[in-house]
Amino acid sequence: MAVYLTTRCRGGVYAPILIRAAQILLNKKGLKNSELSLLLVEDEEMTEINAKWLSRPYTTNVISFPQQSPPIKDNEPLGDIVICIDTARREAHQAGQNLYQRLEALLVHGFAHLLGEDHELGEKEALRMKAVEDELLDILRKEKVMADLCVNVDHVATIRQARLGKEPDPIYAAVLVELAGADGVVVHLREDRRHIQDRDLRLLREIVKTRLTMEMAATQEMLKIACDVKPDIVTLVPERRQELTTEGGLDVVKFEKEIADAVKRLNDSGIPVSIFIDPDSSQIEAAARTKAQCIEIHTGRYAEAQTEEEEDKEFDLIVECAKLARDLGLRVHAGHGLDYRNTPRLVPVAEIEEFSIGHSIVSRAIFVGMEQAVKEMLKIIKGC
Ligand code: PXP
Repeated sequence: MAVYLTTRCRGGVYAPILIRAAQILLNKKGLKNSELSLLLVEDEEMTEINAKWLSRPYTTNVISFPQQSPPIKDNEPLGDIVICIDTARREAHQAGQNLYQRLEALLVHGFAHLLGEDHELGEKEALRMKAVEDELLDILRKEKVMADLCVNVDHVATIRQARLGKEPDPIYAAVLVELAGADGVVVHLREDRRHIQDRDLRLLREIVKTRLTMEMAATQEMLKIACDVKPDIVTLVPERRQELTTEGGLDVVKFEKEIADAVKRLNDSGIPVSIFIDPDSSQIEAAARTKAQCIEIHTGRYAEAQTEEEEDKEFDLIVECAKLARDLGLRVHAGHGLDYRNTPRLVPVAEIEEFSIGHSIVSRAIFVGMEQAVKEMLKIIKGC
């Protein structure tokens, strides 16, 4: 099963969601060996495509170019779907949806066309296509209950740096993380290079096939490196030299302008941005104003809660903030201090689409091996 995505639009679109949705649709429709191409364009190119292929000189939301006619066969390319991001944005705004809900609906519409449905043929055909789209959206809704697991391999590099040697190599760890079935690899390139080195980041960019997240401070040095290396997503984090680990969320309220500038620079380079923040509504509202695509909710206080009441309070806050963020059109990740005991409670929070976990998985990997440790966390998050 192969989904090829080409983006010819300004940055800031969290494209992995479309690849994942397309893979789910192919899988569920028995088209595991088929190929699908997705192209994301802006109004201008969509107008050109419409004029060239459909004799209509204006932009539209989605166009499908089928490569098969029914009965659809596995093992053969299914076709191409072109989605116009500008039109999707306008339609999402009008419908009160967030961009990703709209993009999914357009993907489903285009996919139904590739399956041979055509609403333009008549009323009966339109009804049939609508039923197919509802079925496909339902498939995505059910699958979405499962969040992604992205594994932070910084601690592997921490052990290597203890001897300033070559072992253990975080690159090996990343390969094992992917072989175990995780959805992504995360590294934090710190200003002081205490664990991950520039060489690690560049090699990981070459080998990671799932999703590479680069955590970084919003400094000029890091922005330059990120725009050069082009991770799949950047998570902006605060950084203090003396801290043991990232101790709190970014203060977006205080540094809104600087963070918005960093988001713009990364987005202009085609890199979507997540901002690591405490579960605090004013921080989430400020994060939305920076035009970042995601937030990562800092789960440290929840993870470190000493009493049941404290944990309940922090859990409620995370849920409330996750909902607020989604309502503001932000995608929601969560991380810090999550382990095999405290993650299960967060799994049913439907707004959380990605867990970013490092320390507990690497710690367990010392005893049971990396693949086993990742698989055990995947079982918690995905139930399989
Ligand atoms: N998310 C962010 C933004 C982080 O800085 C870290 C720690 O590097 C994590 C998640 C992972 O935290 P932990 O190692 O406690 O699982």
